[in-house]
Amino acid sequence: MKNKIEELEKKKEKTRLGGGQEKIESQHAKGKLTARERIEILVDEKSFEEIDMFVKHRATDFGLSKQHYPGDGVVTGFAKIDGRPIALFSQDFTVFGGSLSETHAEKIVKVMDMALKLGIPVIGLNDSGGARIQEGVVSLGGYADIFLRNTLASGVVPQISVVLGPCAGGAVYSPAITDFIFMVKNSSYMFVTGPNVVKTVTHEEVSFEDLGGAETHATKSGVAHFIYDNEVEALLNVRRLLGYFPLNFKDKPEDKLFDFENLKPELKFDEIIPDNPNKPYDMKQIINLLVDNNDFFEVHANYAENIITGFARIGGISIGIIANQPEVLAGVLDINASVKGARFVRFCDAFNIPILVLEDVPGFLPGTEQEWNGIIRHGAKLLYAFAEATVPKVTVITRKAYGGAYDVMNSKHIRGDFNFAWISAEIAVMGPKGAVEIIFKKEIAASDDPEKELEKKLSEYIAKFANPYIAAERGFIDDIIEPKDTKIKLIQAFKLLKTKVDSNPRKKHGNIPL
Ligand code: HXC
Repeated sequence: MKNKIEELEKKKEKTRLGGGQEKIESQHAKGKLTARERIEILVDEKSFEEIDMFVKHRATDFGLSKQHYPGDGVVTGFAKIDGRPIALFSQDFTVFGGSLSETHAEKIVKVMDMALKLGIPVIGLNDSGGARIQEGVVSLGGYADIFLRNTLASGVVPQISVVLGPCAGGAVYSPAITDFIFMVKNSSYMFVTGPNVVKTVTHEEVSFEDLGGAETHATKSGVAHFIYDNEVEALLNVRRLLGYFPLNFKDKPEDKLFDFENLKPELKFDEIIPDNPNKPYDMKQIINLLVDNNDFFEVHANYAENIITGFARIGGISIGIIANQPEVLAGVLDINASVKGARFVRFCDAFNIPILVLEDVPGFLPGTEQEWNGIIRHGAKLLYAFAEATVPKVTVITRKAYGGAYDVMNSKHIRGDFNFAWISAEIAVMGPKGAVEIIFKKEIAASDDPEKELEKKLSEYIAKFANPYIAAERGFIDDIIEPKDTKIKLIQAFKLLKTKVDSNPRKKHGNIPL
């Protein structure tokens, strides 16, 4: 028995070395960690239970029958993060460049299938040269098997992709289907075709980093939700993100302890909104004051910054926040903001995470660029996402709520549960100047002093509409509140909403305007 135990340990030791010491050093020289080092940082100490260490590829062409690395370029198994279970796979670039063979894919599929049965999140650490070229179509089939699992798992368990090296060609579509993508600056990249193909087809000269690096995907394409300077930071933030989620769609996020006794009104809120409604302010100031420990975990921080999305806790309850940002494009809704917001709302709804909306929106962005690129179609996504969401939904209108954007941003009419307005709120079909110029066009033109007439009509309009009282008279706003009481009100609302049950009509699935 002793010999057998030693033999087993020897085999495992060899497997843990992946492609060998030289390849590990080359990985380190690129500033990258190995597949196993990454797992150690990601999961709770000594919690990782590896499976399929002995799996070997079955290929024989191109000399592969003589090249075997047990585990076949991917480390898979189960572990814990903050004491809660997860399934994971971590591609090992030291073995055939982490490329995906038939058996490599089978290993990933196995943990994904198990994660679905267990109802636990899946985390994929991607570092791969793509389909294993020597295996041809078998490898493509392996990718499709994974894409199918990603799709079936969507909305059942949270799926997180951490791209820590190359992720190119069709391989990008696995992370793309998952809920969140993390990338690392200067060492990870994602593209459908690389710089060489781009040059041949479009004659553009572009570097790997500019085409598909972390910065590009965090700012231009919106493909990456989170980017970090190094792998350690990225992995630690995966842990942090997971803390806001339940294990699966039937589960609820865990509450944290909160000291209600010492919660006091927050007077700083009164100083944030400028007297002049055309002046911007930073909505993140409001968010940071509202959330527990000023701890806001922003999603898509550098993409479509006119809308803010992210996770936090309020009164210990995990919530998703979606807020207009008056500091960027006056907080207007455009195509990118609508798509960013819609995807976030749908994630929260899928996983029982209550939604808080902080609203200061002047409307949708006008212009040919927006119209021709489909603001109608894309804006509808946000409307659809809010309307179909059945999780607790609370809105606070801090200032402007104009036009269609008023309806879209979780209004009462599309099942907002509690809709509050600050005393600074202005709820109307459009902003005062635009409105007056249209409805009093003739009077103003006919007047001896058009400018004075405009001013007069403007003050009449402001007195009548630029406030929250008309909406509150109709019951479209449940209460008009003083900013200082916002946190207390919100905690009470989310606590009350703990027992909320709502549903949508029976159907196969809806048809969100994609
Ligand atoms: C087999 C591969 C491989 C692959 C890399 N390797 N990619 N082996 N299949 N796809 C091997 C290399 O031969 C090398 O082996 C080792 O991994 C490390 O690769 P290097 O090239 O030395 O590393 P580096 O210089 O860092 O370059 C990394 C790379 C490059 C940019 C990823 O290897 C590369 O361009 N690979 C090919 C990428 C590609 O075209 N893949 C197919 C995409 S299509 P040795 O033994 O020399 O160390 C695709 C379709 C998916 O993936 C479709 C899904 C629907």
